[in-house]
Amino acid sequence: MKIALTGDRPTGKLHIGHLVGSLERRLELQNDNNIDKLYIMLADSQALTDNYDNPEKVRYNVIEVILDYLSIGLDPNIVTFFIQSELPALTELTFYYLNLVTTARLERNPTVKSEMQMRGFNDGGLPVGFYTYPISQAADITAFDANIVPVGEDQKPMIEQTREIVQRFNYIYGETLVMPEILLPKNNKSNRLVGIDGQAKMSKSLNNAIFLSDDEKVLNQKVMSMYTDPNHIEINDPGSVDGNTVFTYLDVFCKDEHFDKYLKDYNNLNEMKEHYKKGGLGDVKCKKFLFNILNEKLSVYRENRKMWESKISEVYEIIYEGTKVAKEVTNRTCERVKSAMKINYFANKQNMISEWEKFLSEGTWTKR
Ligand code: TRP
Repeated sequence: MKIALTGDRPTGKLHIGHLVGSLERRLELQNDNNIDKLYIMLADSQALTDNYDNPEKVRYNVIEVILDYLSIGLDPNIVTFFIQSELPALTELTFYYLNLVTTARLERNPTVKSEMQMRGFNDGGLPVGFYTYPISQAADITAFDANIVPVGEDQKPMIEQTREIVQRFNYIYGETLVMPEILLPKNNKSNRLVGIDGQAKMSKSLNNAIFLSDDEKVLNQKVMSMYTDPNHIEINDPGSVDGNTVFTYLDVFCKDEHFDKYLKDYNNLNEMKEHYKKGGLGDVKCKKFLFNILNEKLSVYRENRKMWESKISEVYEIIYEGTKVAKEVTNRTCERVKSAMKINYFANKQNMISEWEKFLSEGTWTKR
């Protein structure tokens, strides 16, 4: 069985960084006949670990993110979408896994470290819930017996932590949990798409994101404001394509066929880059080209989104039914885990009674 599981914290609309960093991979997986199950989670509990004081934000972003999923073409007939907080088994598993991880190990997690920095948890006090979210993420993954976790590079430490928990659990309690593998984006450049300011990773909080749901006008404004080469002042000045955000995006999104459609002066990106480097190619022309490429993509999403927005009750059913399925799957895993940990007292009344009777009559415990 090949079971893939991934998800997002519903803390904001998804952007094109998510698209190339993880969403495109999911589209591939949903069409891959070798994959038996694809689960996509709205990680609202995890979102609350650093937004506990703003539950409204998490609540309205649940619908934003579902609409983003559906609008890019994730198919509810193939994918099981669900809401994390609706699954008590995940919380329960987390509690048992907490025993298997040391604080020293948690402190080594580079993603958590940098997130702590960003959120001011270093000096303001660190909430235990946030500190332990990698362990809850291990519960998310193992509860579904997922062996494939398609995520961006920033999630590497989480998958490593999960693998350690699996190994340790199986070592202590016997072979129970499935070992997951990370599945990174194919294109190296897609791992961490920079924001339109060229400064850092694209992110809603840094105000440098192009959202999947941006309309044409907003998209155009954002592309036109993109960071390029500050030394490329006159059109005829030689320009640099390295660190030039427009070209970074073209590297990711541009295909040869786009030249035929939108910029006939060149046959491919290399030709275009050569001209830019030599001088004589202006930024506005490059940006218009990039705008057309992105707009072609986003206009499809906008149409889909409009369609789904007009039938929200269907969207409700999709997530409701998906959560129901997920609940069953995770409850079953939790039973298996409890059985391995010898805490499945009520799994079978007769067995429990005989075991207690045997123990009391023999006066000694025989290892089961
Ligand atoms: N931590 C992930 C993120 O911030 C979201 C997430 C939660 C996740 N649980 C998961 C991803 C399990 C993959 C598998 O994007």
